[in-house]
Amino acid sequence: MAPKKILVVDDDSIVCESLKEMLTLEGYLVDTALDGASALDKVKQEPFNLILSDIQMPGLNGIDLLKELKGLDSNAFIIFITGHGHIDGAVEAIKLGAYDYITKPIDDTRLKFTIQRALEQQSLLKDYQSLKQRLKPWDLQDFLKFRDRKMEQLLELVHTIADTQATVLITGESGTGKSLLAKYIHQQSSRKHRPFVKISCGALSETLLESELFGHVRGAFTGAIRDKKGKFEEAHGGTIFIDDINSASPNLQVKLLRVLQEKVIERVGGNTLIPVDVRIICATNTSLQEEVARQRFREDLYYRVNVVSLAIPPLRERLSDIAPLAEHFIKQFNLVHRRKVKGLSKSALQVLLRYRWPGNVRELENVIEQAVILSPGEFIIPESLPQFIRESAVCSLPTNTELTLDDALGHAEKQIILEALERHKWNRQLCAQALGISRTTLFNKMKRFQLMEHRRSGGRKGTNRNLHQATG
Ligand SMILES: Nc1ncnc2c1ncn2[C@@H]1O[C@H](COP(=O)(O)OP(=O)(O)OP(=O)(O)O)[C@@H](O)[C@H]1O
Ligand SMILES: [Mg+2]
Repeated sequence: MAPKKILVVDDDSIVCESLKEMLTLEGYLVDTALDGASALDKVKQEPFNLILSDIQMPGLNGIDLLKELKGLDSNAFIIFITGHGHIDGAVEAIKLGAYDYITKPIDDTRLKFTIQRALEQQSLLKDYQSLKQRLKPWDLQDFLKFRDRKMEQLLELVHTIADTQATVLITGESGTGKSLLAKYIHQQSSRKHRPFVKISCGALSETLLESELFGHVRGAFTGAIRDKKGKFEEAHGGTIFIDDINSASPNLQVKLLRVLQEKVIERVGGNTLIPVDVRIICATNTSLQEEVARQRFREDLYYRVNVVSLAIPPLRERLSDIAPLAEHFIKQFNLVHRRKVKGLSKSALQVLLRYRWPGNVRELENVIEQAVILSPGEFIIPESLPQFIRESAVCSLPTNTELTLDDALGHAEKQIILEALERHKWNRQLCAQALGISRTTLFNKMKRFQLMEHRRSGGRKGTNRNLHQATG
């Protein structure tokens, strides 16, 4: 294993040298800096595992150094050395994210122990992050699981447009896989070796969001202690994924429109135009068209954003994806929780097929994780699934007896068709289009599921009851 690198920062050169000598003997690679500013320069040039720093220093002091480090891409842990009279400062430092502090005069054994513990924690954290990374290998094509025909068609379109500059708008309910699809598009484009940068318009206040997106110049507002690049600049040459675009404020919408039209940005508080070469992918979980109609979203921006439109259907409209997704999550969580679950029992699959999945794929992922943990045997049985899923499945079921897979699928298919018909006011042309089937197929299925009678009997509400009667 490569030796760990430590940077010792103290304005007293004797302290620096003696710590260097001691830590070198312990097997660490040690460098020193006599003030905060030169420490910062060193960190910018090479990575350190740990920084051991005095707090009181002329110029950039220890606390300032810590704050500056946060803005850098450094994973270094920081331990402060402080005089007895300055423990308040050390406590503040811990609140700001320092790992620990030790007091002067330095007790060598205590220092060595603290360093060792910090480095151990750091490597655990790294293992954990790389495990997470391995479990979400974005670059693997087979990571995106689907079997449904609507998804196949969507993916065909994705492959056609992936390697173009076209701005993409992904719509879909929460948890349908919008973020995953955005990453996938980036991976399929020739920008894949350049950054993929994500930002959500829903999570931040307007001012913060603006400075995150466009960056700011030093002094632009209180707390802007140095120039900062925004996400657009970070994504240069690559892709920016703007999630929850429907939440963008009117002011931000104007700024985004400008980037889309002119391909330039301006940092907050700055007056220089910075050209950016970025592919833009946006996502929304509400209909942007409706937002436009309600005058909450600019129409001109809508057309700029919606060059290619990808609508991910909710999970309840692509039931054939449930089995492959469940299988995929079982494999994944076997790994995480050291289990050896082989798959779903037929009855458990039936339960999953009957449920409505308001939380879509994310909800399925959580359910499978729990089931993998709780499963007593090799196969997941209905009893390992959450009660609300079992119960809701029973409610919407034509009978309480075990269904064959065909029956379960037929039942679900009927429900989906019925919903589509109601959504399109029983216009068969529109409904067939929405379902991705021909009018004849729709007609035949309506006959098979006795949906013609259903309409005539005026069965609008009480869908489930009618279904029971019709199928039962
Ligand atoms: N087709 C798929 N194959 C494999 N995993 C999927 C698929 N679709 C979604 N997932 C997984 O489901 C979870 C939710 O997906 P994701 O975060 O992309 O959804 P989202 O639509 O962006 O959600 P939100 O609206 O909350 O932002 C993630 O863990 C993702 O990896
Ligand atoms: Mg998302």
